[in-house]
Amino acid sequence: MPKINKYQDISEVDRVAKKDLIDRHSPFITCENVAKINEPFEVKVTMGNEFTHPDDFDHYIESVTLFDGETKLAQATYVPGTLGNIKAHNTTTFTIIPTGKKLNLVAHGYCTKHGIWEGTSVEVVVEQ
Ligand SMILES: [Fe+2]
Repeated sequence: MPKINKYQDISEVDRVAKKDLIDRHSPFITCENVAKINEPFEVKVTMGNEFTHPDDFDHYIESVTLFDGETKLAQATYVPGTLGNIKAHNTTTFTIIPTGKKLNLVAHGYCTKHGIWEGTSVEVVVEQ
């Protein structure tokens, strides 16, 4: 099993290099906190909040995956150069249609050099 690096609040980290490493690899979920059952619902995942990640041929964000709890919902894959080979925030918007009572959204980002990173989960209430 590959190691899954978990997000850590960077305000509690002293070294700038470590803040940068954690932040630029962490997926941040942005969405409404209430969804409607059986209706399209947008979930945006942004890699990095304060720090941007390279898009080099040997070092880039290869995929962003969205889960509801332990269930994989969707995955976007990238090739190097999609983000212009410059440091940027990889941003993906997924559109899902919830069918249950709540969502427990969790995102993973995969860097070709630094592995899998998991962000903070987000709870969404699904109105029936
Ligand atoms: Fe990386």
